[in-house]
Amino acid sequence: MDASILYSKEYREKPEPIWEQMRNDHPLFYDEIGEIWWLTRYDDVERVFTEHELFSSSTYELTTGQVVGPTLISRDDYGHVVRRSIVAPDFVGKRLRTYQGLIEECSRELIANFEGNQEVALVREFSSLLPVDVISSMLGMVGDGHLFRQWVTDMIMGLSGSAERRKKGLEANAAFCKHIAPLLDDVDDSGRIDHVAKIARAEVDGHRLTEQEISAFCGLLFIAGGETTDKAIANMWWNVLTHQETLERVKKDPALWGNAFSETMRRTPPVISEDRFTSQQVEIHGVEIPQGSRVRVCMGAAHLDPTVFQQPDEFDIFRKDLNLSKELRSGGSKDPRRSGHLGFGLGKHFCIGYELARVESVTGSQMIVERCGSPELADFTQTGPVIQGNSFMAVRELRVRFNRN
Ligand code: HEM
Repeated sequence: MDASILYSKEYREKPEPIWEQMRNDHPLFYDEIGEIWWLTRYDDVERVFTEHELFSSSTYELTTGQVVGPTLISRDDYGHVVRRSIVAPDFVGKRLRTYQGLIEECSRELIANFEGNQEVALVREFSSLLPVDVISSMLGMVGDGHLFRQWVTDMIMGLSGSAERRKKGLEANAAFCKHIAPLLDDVDDSGRIDHVAKIARAEVDGHRLTEQEISAFCGLLFIAGGETTDKAIANMWWNVLTHQETLERVKKDPALWGNAFSETMRRTPPVISEDRFTSQQVEIHGVEIPQGSRVRVCMGAAHLDPTVFQQPDEFDIFRKDLNLSKELRSGGSKDPRRSGHLGFGLGKHFCIGYELARVESVTGSQMIVERCGSPELADFTQTGPVIQGNSFMAVRELRVRFNRN
């Protein structure tokens, strides 16, 4: 296989046949253009995510670290555990439920702008806006939502690419840090319930986050929370609207948006790959990979592995082989016949915002249908998810028509 295919339009628009060829014939593939080893089988992706001592997340020092500064995502050591224990609890369970009203309010405000319109550009008018509105409100930021979204876009662009893009990313991060600086004062005021104050007050094992660490972590949240959930929402709507039977079932039982979310995360995950460095020489598929090599795990390909999911190309919100309820950090599900999708990663660095992303996607979608009416694709020539950059896969825009009767 020629590595150039991975940089082609053909791959970006329809990666599935290329992923199949990689899984079957080149389970370990060296891409000499990107100078990176690709893994595409489910078991291999699972292994890399969970064997942290062999596969280091320090790759993030070259991406997010360059824009927002050092954060837990690039650490493999105990420092990661401490920092995660400080910042993560706000995003799950009971504490996340305290933000349910805020998520509904953010959704309601956006829907009010297009409620009554027969046609809606779902990405421009909703999915690209909600996650930044939610995360900025959780952080206690007050101000111009358009500006906040521009910062997220510039920060993401700055993660890779030209010096010019990096410069813009750094400028956006500086503006973001300046904006949240006042939030770092008076954090001991017990009336403060925003995430910044909560993580500033939290202490684990005698450690507190420094102001610099708080700013960097909030920058990471801004990036991680802002530009992924939007794609999950758009991809989910694409999947539901292009499967008439699924659409009918979801209309009858809105709780099924939860199943649609899980199956979307498997079939068309917004993040299709993650990179690691090998911490020591490691053997994979009979090849000795030197220490310090870059390894790319492709979750998009792993989710279509027929040894794990039957008829993997099908979008099926009732599939018996996928965990359809809330994701588990350890993968799989309580039912041993069901595997988990890897769209939020696995193990130590498993996504902190997994539950928030699910709640935003499901609640937002339920509220749209409730308030706008029965949805359908406004234009059947619209195209589905395509690969954007190295690691995103998403529908660019989705025009949806609503019928009130
Ligand atoms: C559908 C939406 C989302 C997707 C697909 C997604 C995907 C991922 C993935 C794949 C990872 C693992 C990275 C790795 O191991 O290299 C991750 C980690 C992370 N995500 Fe998400 N994410 C989403 C939403 C969010 C949200 C809403 C937030 C925050 C509010 C968030 C915050 C984070 C953080 C902080 C980490 C690093 C965790 C650690 O290093 O321990 N993500 N995410």
